Amino acid sequence: MDDKQYKLKIKRFDPEQNSHSRWEEFSLRMEPAQRLLDGLAKIKDEIDGSLTYRRSCAHGVCGSCAMKINGKNSLACQTLFKDMPDSIVIEPLHSFPVIKDLVVDMKPFFEKTEEVLPYLINNTPPPERERPQTPEEQGKILQAITCIMCGSCTSSCPSYQINNRYLGPSALVKAARFIFDSRDLAEAERLEKIIQSNGIWRCHSIYNCVEACPKNVDIPAHIIKLKQLAVRKKILKRS
Ligand code: FES
Repeated sequence: MDDKQYKLKIKRFDPEQNSHSRWEEFSLRMEPAQRLLDGLAKIKDEIDGSLTYRRSCAHGVCGSCAMKINGKNSLACQTLFKDMPDSIVIEPLHSFPVIKDLVVDMKPFFEKTEEVLPYLINNTPPPERERPQTPEEQGKILQAITCIMCGSCTSSCPSYQINNRYLGPSALVKAARFIFDSRDLAEAERLEKIIQSNGIWRCHSIYNCVEACPKNVDIPAHIIKLKQLAVRKKILKRS
């Protein structure tokens, strides 16, 4: 297919130049099979070297190129020009402080993840080889494992937008990933972390996260399972 003209309207912000963001338009000729990330690289290489964005793997693995593309949180490296209209609006992820142009401060996001203890906890003596898991046991965490922590879900969550102390969907998926892992032994400890006032009960099943997730993780289903577990193990026990 032939290359085609696209207009990229990008929200720019440079705290050293201005305290407000501004919009800037760029016209590019791109081939349909090229990715939006290629378009950003073309602007940076050929038009304006000051354009700032994150990228690393360029293959939908690292999560660093998440941004708002035509109103929807997406990965720039997985967005093909052939799937886009001629005019494309690009903004940084909402809900996080903007550092420069399309780069947001992910520190608050990763702090929430830290809160749920995002690592395997098992203090029993390690077996000679690995700790085995049956396919059924692995199936329970398979979706949660595919999360690349791009922040798209948390950024799009209205509950997080009005209260950034809420752990947010990504951290809760991370909690589910370890709570439902048959090899992990810290279920009670993690449940305490997620039933606090800014934990699971802040999720009102709005489902924005479902549309935002580039890996199609059924995030609400994970949070519902956490709520069910919390009711069974914690709430009912206390009453
Ligand atoms: S650059 Fe790694 S996910 Fe896009």
